[in-house]
Amino acid sequence: MIVSNGSGRLLEGRHFDPYGEHRDDPYAFLSGVWDDEPVFYAPLLDAWCVSRREDILAVLKDDGGFSTRDHNPRPKVALPDDVAKMFKTWRGSGAVGVGSLDPPEHSRIREVLNIGFTPARVSAFEPTMQQIAAGLVEQAAMEDDFEFISTFAVPYALEVICRLLGIPEEQYGNCRRWSEQRIELMMLQQDTDPALLREYAQGLVEFGAFARAIAEDRLANPQDDLISELLHSGKSGNTLSVAEVAVQIPTLIFAGHMTCAEALGTILYQQLLSPEGWRPVVEGTVTAHGLVEEGLRFDSPLAGMYRTATRDVVVGDVHLMEGSRLLMLFGAAGRDGRAHACPAAFAPNGKSSGHLAFGYGIHFCLGAGFARAELRVAVQAIAARMPGLTLVPGQAPKYRPVFPLRALRELHVRH
Ligand code: HEM
Repeated sequence: MIVSNGSGRLLEGRHFDPYGEHRDDPYAFLSGVWDDEPVFYAPLLDAWCVSRREDILAVLKDDGGFSTRDHNPRPKVALPDDVAKMFKTWRGSGAVGVGSLDPPEHSRIREVLNIGFTPARVSAFEPTMQQIAAGLVEQAAMEDDFEFISTFAVPYALEVICRLLGIPEEQYGNCRRWSEQRIELMMLQQDTDPALLREYAQGLVEFGAFARAIAEDRLANPQDDLISELLHSGKSGNTLSVAEVAVQIPTLIFAGHMTCAEALGTILYQQLLSPEGWRPVVEGTVTAHGLVEEGLRFDSPLAGMYRTATRDVVVGDVHLMEGSRLLMLFGAAGRDGRAHACPAAFAPNGKSSGHLAFGYGIHFCLGAGFARAELRVAVQAIAARMPGLTLVPGQAPKYRPVFPLRALRELHVRH
């Protein structure tokens, strides 16, 4: 039994550096902790990392014992005061995305957001996904070799969520830039030119202003899009105010495209790396659904999220004091040998269920069904148009230092 002092600062902990040393392959490190110390303190993250599926589930089921208020990664180095202030208030004073809300506020907002992501709504949107995927694959096919992340994965995921929300096309580029600027600030690891940090923060202020303007516009001029629906026709007469919708728009854009783009990169990379390559997907012996689920399990695009203990708690065999910060390692749960047979092998055979790539409990991913359809549609469109897809030889794809996101920098493919 280990008893922490709360923050864990007095403990030596384990050297886990998902921004540096363990960035490309965190799983080799994690394979050494599942048996020895499945809940360990990582000084670099200033958090208690929870790596076993059953321990993560126990935390995610206990909404009273753990808060998500502070669930995002924090910059490792201090931001200049004015940048820190803009970074805290760009959505509006005290305003946070649904993922950072605890009940009962979380339940009220989430109930209205759910209307855009029911199975019926996802099915109705599939033809739009197919049309976007087909257009981008056709464009990519003009070159024999192309870089998959920037040519297909990012523009596809971005356009899909923007079309659902009703974001004007000329703003897609800004939405991407603002999302990247948010990453730069949230995951900042080293001292950086303050002028650049200011530029990122000002980008976020613009993002907040854009979201408010579009929500105001859709209140006055409703259109056939999700933003209008959240303002006008929520479930059982519940709608959200302009301010409430404006706060959630950046979250939907950010959460809706970054993870899907990453997932596509990983899925394609792992399948193309396998001995049989792309052929089983084209022939249908590996289904698009099976491939997507295995990709999500094998290298979960959102590797983890934080929680804060709201009282003294026990996680695994570790006693943690109120205020302790914990990191739920969703990706590690997918490689937990107690939950999955042969967890280190990429095997899209329809037996990938039980992964925690979309989290669990009240914060279970709002867009899980939507993302699954989006990824499946993309795989099908690529397999149909590019049956001979291979990796460009000689590359060793690397991950960006944006933990807990798992984003490949580049993936060069040939068709
Ligand atoms: C492969 C793609 C995706 C992955 C791997 C993913 C993963 C996750 C995970 C693990 C969580 C739980 C976080 C936590 O417990 O702290 C989450 C929450 C969330 N996701 Fe996703 N997500 C994906 C796609 C999407 C899409 C397409 C949307 C579109 C709107 C979306 C919106 C959200 C939102 C709003 C939340 C917060 C929900 C809440 O707190 O109630 N995600 N996602």
